[in-house]
Amino acid sequence: MAATEQELARGTWLVTGGCGFIGSEFLRQAHRALPDVRLVNLDSLSYAASPDRVAELEGSPRYRFVKGDISRPADVDAAMTACAQLSGAGGPTALINFAAESHVDRSLFTGMPFVMANTLGVQVLLEAGRKFVEKGVLKRFLQVSTDEVYGDVHEPHRSVETDPIHTSSPYSASKAGGELLVQAFVRSFKFPAIVTRCSNNYGPWHWPEKMIPLFIMRLLQGKKVPVYGDGMQKRDWIHVEDHAAGIMAALLRGQDGEIYNFDGEIEIDNLSLTRKLLSLAQRDESFIEYVKDRPGHDRRYALDSAKAQRELGWRQKWTLEAGLRQTFDWFVAHKSWLDKVLNEEYQSYYKQQYEVR
Ligand SMILES: NC(=O)c1ccc[n+]([C@@H]2O[C@H](COP(=O)([O-])OP(=O)(O)OC[C@H]3O[C@@H](n4cnc5c(N)ncnc54)[C@H](O)[C@@H]3O)[C@@H](O)[C@H]2O)c1
Repeated sequence: MAATEQELARGTWLVTGGCGFIGSEFLRQAHRALPDVRLVNLDSLSYAASPDRVAELEGSPRYRFVKGDISRPADVDAAMTACAQLSGAGGPTALINFAAESHVDRSLFTGMPFVMANTLGVQVLLEAGRKFVEKGVLKRFLQVSTDEVYGDVHEPHRSVETDPIHTSSPYSASKAGGELLVQAFVRSFKFPAIVTRCSNNYGPWHWPEKMIPLFIMRLLQGKKVPVYGDGMQKRDWIHVEDHAAGIMAALLRGQDGEIYNFDGEIEIDNLSLTRKLLSLAQRDESFIEYVKDRPGHDRRYALDSAKAQRELGWRQKWTLEAGLRQTFDWFVAHKSWLDKVLNEEYQSYYKQQYEVR
């Protein structure tokens, strides 16, 4: 029988990748909003992780952190045991998979870590999860996926959940592999899973290799920002709080076997977005540096989230103007966090990545 919202909201959730940008927002929201939910965070602490993002949960009797890799069955078993201990029952009621290698540019250097985490890791979670579904313990599995699985979308179409998958980078291909495995489990084993696909996120705590935080950080440092190619690539942006709220809505009120899109209803080309950031930082166009375009760079992503609005009662709250202002102010106020994450690994990645045109 399908899980009820009340049953899920009183359960124990295994959240993977909870020290990442979006997973940590989800953990903070769940911990604040649902006083009966217990949360286990399984994260390998890759370069993109920051435990600071979940500092407010440390010490909570309803929270536990397990360091481990989702592509290693023994680590996943350890997280399942932590769920059983925390719940005093058999294991997790829900499993929400955020863990992934998430940066497209890095996947173009080497795709192997992407396949390991984003495809193999999902298979390991599914196999472990299936045992708990059979025991009647695990009621829902949610796979966090991306709009990039749809590939380039031509004007004026906006991708809907029934559109075919058409991937362009090792990142999007590995994410598509993961969600196809989830769909295979739904079909073959009536596995109670949901897939969500979301557009580009931005907001506080964002790792400064992605466009918005990278540009804010460089402008704050008085440095130029690298714009790919002609800057006319269009993206559909969503504030991370709206995405995490969408995942919560899908988890609690979604239907098994369904896919839900989430976007911010904000479509903008990279150059126009750059100009908004320049204006927030009070810098002029001389701070733009055009760099060689990313290989295989998709020109446009655009999502239609009408299904999520209609069926989950979810709506985006943030406008781009308010969200960028809040994000910019957050980075100004959290300069010490930026200093901490700008380590040697980051510096060598940046040098390798941006070849000036
Ligand atoms: N950032 C976006 O704009 C966006 C948009 C749509 C979907 N998504 C998806 O949302 C999810 C979270 O994205 P994010 O931006 O928070 O990513 P992130 O890179 O900020 O965080 C990923 C987290 O997963 C952990 N991790 C990586 N590999 C792991 C493994 N093998 N085992 C355990 N933990 C591992 C990392 O340590 C990190 O804490 C990803 O699945 C991503 O594909 C992201």
